[in-house]
Amino acid sequence: MTEGSGAIKAVGRGAANRRGAHFVAAPGRLDAGAAGQHTLAAMVSLPDFIRGLPKAELHLHIEGSLEPEQMFAFAGRNGIALPFASVEALRAAYAFAKLQDFLDIYYQGADVLRTEADFRDLALAYFRRVAADGARHVELFFDPQTHTSRGIPFAVAAEGLLAGMAQAERELGVSSKLILCFLRHLDEDAAFATLREAEPWLDRIVGVGLDSSEVGHPPSKFAGVFRAARERGLKLVAHAGEEGPPAYVREALDLLHVDRIDHGNRALEDAELVRRLAREAMTLTVCPLSNLKLCVVGDLADHPLKRMLQLGLKATVNADDPAYFGGYLAENWIAVSQALGLTREDLVTLAKNSFTGSFLAPEEVARHLAAIDAYAQAQPEIA
Ligand code: ADE
Ligand code: ZN
Repeated sequence: MTEGSGAIKAVGRGAANRRGAHFVAAPGRLDAGAAGQHTLAAMVSLPDFIRGLPKAELHLHIEGSLEPEQMFAFAGRNGIALPFASVEALRAAYAFAKLQDFLDIYYQGADVLRTEADFRDLALAYFRRVAADGARHVELFFDPQTHTSRGIPFAVAAEGLLAGMAQAERELGVSSKLILCFLRHLDEDAAFATLREAEPWLDRIVGVGLDSSEVGHPPSKFAGVFRAARERGLKLVAHAGEEGPPAYVREALDLLHVDRIDHGNRALEDAELVRRLAREAMTLTVCPLSNLKLCVVGDLADHPLKRMLQLGLKATVNADDPAYFGGYLAENWIAVSQALGLTREDLVTLAKNSFTGSFLAPEEVARHLAAIDAYAQAQPEIA
């Protein structure tokens, strides 16, 4: 990530320990000691403060964590020929002007995922990275229809991911919950069929979501299947207001009765909707580097995250599809903090929002909030 301008600047990139602060000497912060010697004021760099801050990731498509190197490795072990000559050629294709440009290559890439081991290894690789970013909990999406439509049974994807999640909790101490997303470019009958297929796993799937091509596929198209999911006790989330208009955010609230809005950027175009989202304490899972890479914003300095916080919205920071958008969880936090000059208080609020907006039990949320307070109190000034 680039070092941007703003209220907080990183001053060093030393070897941070995984959960703690890495202390740095900030230029211009030399204090004169009694004997005239200079002592270094203890400060923590912004990246280290962020990496050590306990946080949750609530908007992560596991298929979007498929790195080019992994894509070639999975293609190799599954005997698949990729239409790209090298990792570099594949990465060079990651230039998107809009959501659909990305989706086309993302669905193509997912074709290398064939076995339970592929899904488990994909999840584990993601969890290793996000554990190093200071994530304590993740609520991850998967797109079963992307796999069942090419003959990979629901069980292969679900069991592989659940195995990776269990291993990550045991070995890395990162808890997680799985969310099944319906592809909105397909029809509601296909979503109903997916919900029926998911039945044996519904005690291990926390909720359903709605993703893929937003414009032209409003939430109203899926009101029936979301009602069925609600009747089964599942949590409900939906992508809305990424490229679609504020009316789609309203539909997600009024017709789908969602517990969270994924993205929600365009809600800011409607002042009454903003007041409602604030009043209802609706969590927005915001994805800064995704927004930049998909041209939802032209520049991170224009990203609405700071405005969302000022308007009292429960915004969170997330990576969306980190292998395609240039950064995992901490890189999103660092880039947007530098671009917008987020304060220490903003960072603590964002971390707290990530747990209060999660589907963890209240006592778990309380435990994480206490850990955030303890961490923030123990940290020196951010350089
Ligand atoms: N599927 C994966 N990433 C997505 C995004 N950012 N928006 C809609 N659908 C997606
Ligand atoms: Zn998304």
